[in-house]
Parts: sequence; structure tokens; C-alpha cells
Amino acid sequence: MTITQGAVKNTEASTDFLPLHGTDYVEFYVGNAKQAAHFYKTAFGFQSLAYAGPETGMMDKVSYVLRQNKLTFVLTTALRKDSEIAAHVALHGDGVKFLALKVEDAKDAWLQTTRRGGKSYLEPVVYKDNDGEVVMSGIHTYGDTVHLFIERKNYSGVFMPGFRKWDTAYNPVDTGLLYVDHCVGNVGWNQMNPWVKFYEEVMGFKNILSFDDKDISTEYSALMSKVMSNGNGYVKFPINEPAEGKKKSQVEEYLDFYNGEGVQHVAIATSDIVNTVTSLVDRGVEFLKVPQSYYDDVLERVGAIDEDLQPLSQLGILIDKDDEGYLLQIFSKPLQDRPTLFFEIIQRKGAKSFGKGNFKALFEALEREQEARGNL
Ligand code: FE2
Repeated sequence: MTITQGAVKNTEASTDFLPLHGTDYVEFYVGNAKQAAHFYKTAFGFQSLAYAGPETGMMDKVSYVLRQNKLTFVLTTALRKDSEIAAHVALHGDGVKFLALKVEDAKDAWLQTTRRGGKSYLEPVVYKDNDGEVVMSGIHTYGDTVHLFIERKNYSGVFMPGFRKWDTAYNPVDTGLLYVDHCVGNVGWNQMNPWVKFYEEVMGFKNILSFDDKDISTEYSALMSKVMSNGNGYVKFPINEPAEGKKKSQVEEYLDFYNGEGVQHVAIATSDIVNTVTSLVDRGVEFLKVPQSYYDDVLERVGAIDEDLQPLSQLGILIDKDDEGYLLQIFSKPLQDRPTLFFEIIQRKGAKSFGKGNFKALFEALEREQEARGNL
């Protein structure tokens, strides 16, 4: 038995040329990192972890690192006008720059992916301090977004060389956010399949689910989506592209305001969505609401669930099921002034899917918001 398992494991290891241990961190380029850090701490319950800036030898930018359970966010801003970060923020507004992935060997990750056609962003580089070393490399993905490969097995410091511990008296209680469940990218017209091919060929991912415009359409707008997953399923990247509808789709609105392709939403896991969302709402996080009629027949659609329906309907939490179980999910309103990035909060109770049964109700809610902005 042990031998069989070992053999299976070896086969898997030999076919996965890019083994990933999950998301290492998500880094945002923002207009004001100090204030953004305060927002994510206050509204979402992140804790202060590390800081880098002129005081630590980083003269042209400032980064604040926040953590909640296995979730790490880095908020970075430019200190000078002639900066790639300032240009990024001017073009895109606040948004996700790096989806950093944890690897065993960052040099090999770079070699494997660039050999298969990945465009290099950062050749492997070793950063050292008294706590050890971090090896980092990176490749470009859609838009101006980048995948960094982070190897930190020989590092014991607080975050990475160049950062110091960020001590503060302000430590708001966490909200039960656990880890990144998936990150969704919005790409341009006819660009979904080329990016699916990129994740298959360059990164060894598999297309595990597809939705076409028949699955995801309302009276007005439509989109198509394919979900890409790495070998062990720790890293999942759905890719959306707009589809033809009567009016402008939500993906087009994103592309207009972001001025190109980029991360649409980061889905964050919780093991108690009612408590998490209650606490987020108390702290001022705003969520999309579906009409109460959604709850009239939802249990007929998904079957019995462990939770009481009343708090779910009060908070606007959506329910969907697949062959393996069900899931509970809710979507925030945009997290910055432009209608671009938002978060999803998700609790999986066996289901491995993404809430297809909720798409219609959800997109109608999104369109009401779009209409209020005059972009429908
Ligand atoms: Fe999602």
C-alpha cells in the first residue's frame, strides 16, 4: 500500500514541473499605502506584520505588509513621480500587481516557465539578511499583472530581507479570513483562450471548469469564464472575458476603468461565513445584495444546509451546490473608487465549484450598481 502511494506521488511530482505550495502574498500598487493599510486592518481585520521604506533602505517606495491567518497582503506606493509604481496607479488606479506564489525552488520555477514561453519579469535573485535568504523570480501574466515565485525555505525573518517588523498599538480583532481560495482575472475580447493556453503550457495548469455566455448571461450582459487550477489544486485562477449582450458587460466596465486586463476579484476563504460577514458589515464593508426573493426557493435548488437561512438572507449570503457539496459566498462592492477590484468571501462545505447557480442573481445585482454609475 505504502509503495503504491509512493509510486503515485512520484508520478505526480514528475509531471508537475511547477509545484506550488499556494499563494505566498498578494501585492497591491496603491495611491497611499499608509491609508490603504489602515483600511484593510480596520475593515477586514488584518494585523500589521512588516514595513519597508526609506528607514529600511528602500528609498523610492513604501510597503506595508498585513497578515490574517494564511493571508498576506502587501500594500505598496511610490515616493517619487518617475516611478513604475506611480505610472501603474495613474493608469489602473489601486489594483493587484503581484500574485506571488510559494515555491520550493524559485530559480527552477523561472527556468521551467520561461523555457515554455513565459515572459520574464524578474530573473532569479537572492535577497539576504541576518535571518537567511529569500529567492525570488517572476513572469508576466495578463495585463500588467505579474506572478512572482517566492522561495523562503531558508528564511526565518518576519517577511523578507529589506523589511522590518511593524509594531503598532492598533491591532483590530480579526474577522476569520483564512487564505486565498481563488483569484479571478478579467481579460479582453477573445483573450480568454490564449490565457487558458498560457496557464496550460507555461505553468502546467489544467482547465477544470468552463462557463459560456449561456451559463452567465442576464437580459443585458454576458461573460465567459474558464477556471485554471495547478496540479495540487492550491492555486486556482478563473479567467473571464466579456461576451456580447444588449448593453455593456461588467467585464467591459472593468476593462474600461482599469485600462486593460487585471485581477477582478480575490476570493477569501472563511470557516464561518455568517460571523465573518457580520463582522465585516459592522466594520463598514459593503456587499452586493440580491433581492429577498432569491431566498424563497433557494433551498429547493440546493437542498438541506447546516446553517439557518435567516442570517444568510439577512446578510445577503448566496448558496450554491455541486456534486460534492455546497458553498456559501458573497461579493463585496469595489474596494477603491474605480469599479474594478472586489473581494469574494467563500465558505466551502464540500463544493469545489464557483457558484454558477448564483451568477444570474448576482450579475443582476451588479448591473443595478453599474446602472447607478451610468455605465450600463
Ligand atoms: Fe469567485
